[in-house]
Amino acid sequence: MATDLTAAGLAHDLNNVFETISEAAEVLRSEPKYSRLGATIQRSVKRGVRIVEDFSEIAQDLRASTSLDAILDNAIQQMQDFLDITHSAPLEFQREIESGQRLPGTSTEWERVFVNFFMNAAQVMPKECVVVIKARRHEDGGIRIHVENSGPGIPDEVLPHIFEAHFSTKKPRSKSARSGLGLHIVKTIVTQNGGTVRAANRSEGGAQFTILLPGA
Ligand SMILES: Nc1ncnc2c1ncn2[C@@H]1O[C@H](COP(=O)(O)OP(=O)(O)OP(=O)(O)O)[C@@H](O)[C@H]1O
Ligand SMILES: [Mg+2]
Repeated sequence: MATDLTAAGLAHDLNNVFETISEAAEVLRSEPKYSRLGATIQRSVKRGVRIVEDFSEIAQDLRASTSLDAILDNAIQQMQDFLDITHSAPLEFQREIESGQRLPGTSTEWERVFVNFFMNAAQVMPKECVVVIKARRHEDGGIRIHVENSGPGIPDEVLPHIFEAHFSTKKPRSKSARSGLGLHIVKTIVTQNGGTVRAANRSEGGAQFTILLPGA
């Protein structure tokens, strides 16, 4: 029987695409007018390359654990690149994290989780939005992560449906790219790593998402 090369083949061919984009971005970087744009595109391409690498590792079941600080550095940089290139208002990020924490699974999976939270925060509160990320390890080795944002909070009628695929209060992007997948992706990744995620509103106002990862 032929070996299943789905993941390896996809990774191989996507890397060809990334290589072309990266070469084009290099040309932009050499033009003073476009050098910042070129650098931003290259960082995005590098993220794409890492997502593909991690995807291959997941397919081969080679997953390790990843530093939460490194995950957040990458997710925040990705979000800032997005806000910068779309001329959106900056988000303020605050971290309250015990050092040395590691999450199960790959960095890119968790970066997708955090970027989806950050995107939603920027969309509900386009100006002066503060995002706070808290993480604490429990005695049994489990980790509790909170992602909170200032803003109006989640309407009561939205809360029960918030993690459903294609549930959205936003305008659809297009017929083929409907909105409402962000938090469904979050829940899928958290669940695949053995955790749970829930949404709530803070008494001070704004939304709070809580991820619980069990200990050994
Ligand atoms: N931080 C938040 N504050 C208030 N409401 C939120 C927040 N995050 C999500 N929501 C609500 O939950 C809905 C679903 O969020 P989700 O990220 O799954 O989809 P989306 O943002 O609408 O679309 P997509 O993520 O696919 O672009 C949103 O449309 C919004 O109504
Ligand atoms: Mg979203």
